[in-house]
Amino acid sequence: MTVLPLTRSLLDWYDRSARVLPWRVSPQALASGVRPDPYRVWLSEIMLQQTTVAAVKPYFVAFVNRWPRVEDLAQAETAEVMAAWAGLGYYARARNLHACAKVVAAEHGGRFPSTAAALKGLPGIGDYTAAAIASIAFGEAAPVVDGNIERVVTRLGAIETPLPAAKPIVRAAVAAMTPQDRPGDFAQAMMDLGATICVPKRPACILCPIADGCEARRAGTMERYPVKAPKRARPQRVGAAFVACRPDGAVWLIRRPPAGLLGGTAAPPTTGWSSRRDGDTGAQAAPFPAVWVRAGSVEHGFTHFDLTLEVWRAAVLADPPGEGWWSAPGALSSRDLPTLMRKVVEVAGAAASAD
Ligand code: ADE
Repeated sequence: MTVLPLTRSLLDWYDRSARVLPWRVSPQALASGVRPDPYRVWLSEIMLQQTTVAAVKPYFVAFVNRWPRVEDLAQAETAEVMAAWAGLGYYARARNLHACAKVVAAEHGGRFPSTAAALKGLPGIGDYTAAAIASIAFGEAAPVVDGNIERVVTRLGAIETPLPAAKPIVRAAVAAMTPQDRPGDFAQAMMDLGATICVPKRPACILCPIADGCEARRAGTMERYPVKAPKRARPQRVGAAFVACRPDGAVWLIRRPPAGLLGGTAAPPTTGWSSRRDGDTGAQAAPFPAVWVRAGSVEHGFTHFDLTLEVWRAAVLADPPGEGWWSAPGALSSRDLPTLMRKVVEVAGAAASAD
């Protein structure tokens, strides 16, 4: 079995310098025949998605003390699991964790599948996590690529292709470097290198076991990598909102159509939200005639675009035409009005209550 010199150097460094982590079997213990517990490997990898090693450590220890086996976790109440996860963030992970424990306990006899292909698709397990578990827990030479490893590899090869386009190139490079023997140690060595030496700013190349083979180091351009594609500007949309106020301060609200953004929520009438060029945000776009006065504007970020709503206000005595209702300003709570519409009402000078 040929092992690239670079892979050899990295494994030798890992033998000397592996971080001691509560879910990790040391390279020496592994060599002497200790087998990693797939449950602990899985739990740690789910927790480490988007979260630092330092933050994960106490949670990991608390979880394995409380639920030592996957069957124990499977039998827990979801609310208990969510409460134990509180503070780690990205709570979909906790829901998926519990769902996955149940599937493994009920459908796999409490034993995790042992290949990346079979692991992938269990709740919360995507490409990265499947490869990490398969290589660390089961010794499958699956290429493990996370953000840290992308940085290490793009520097090693001075890869100019920006991410995310470079992902297949990086993956192929990792696949070529991953040894058949000790693939889990190799993956964790790459993680350790990325976390402690090949860091984003001012990498400590002087300590790096594979600096000799690093193109970026040779050129002195380490911080250039990974090259990132320029962020595309977020789309901008505009619209107008029309806040009709009665003399007693009540505001005219309508129910937004059920489909679309903020579907089914209460709001002052608005125009549609269009891209900037053809947006009509003037008083002539109002849903009914009144003496509309411009009150200001509101900016709001949605997932896929930024919206600017021009806010118009009018004093109105009679009920406007169409379906709607008057809402006293004190009766507008955050449960009734989405944040954007609360801002609109505030800008119009008709204060909504805090909750
Ligand atoms: N980050 C994600 N998985 C890790 C692991 N197994 N060891 C250290 N850092 C990690």
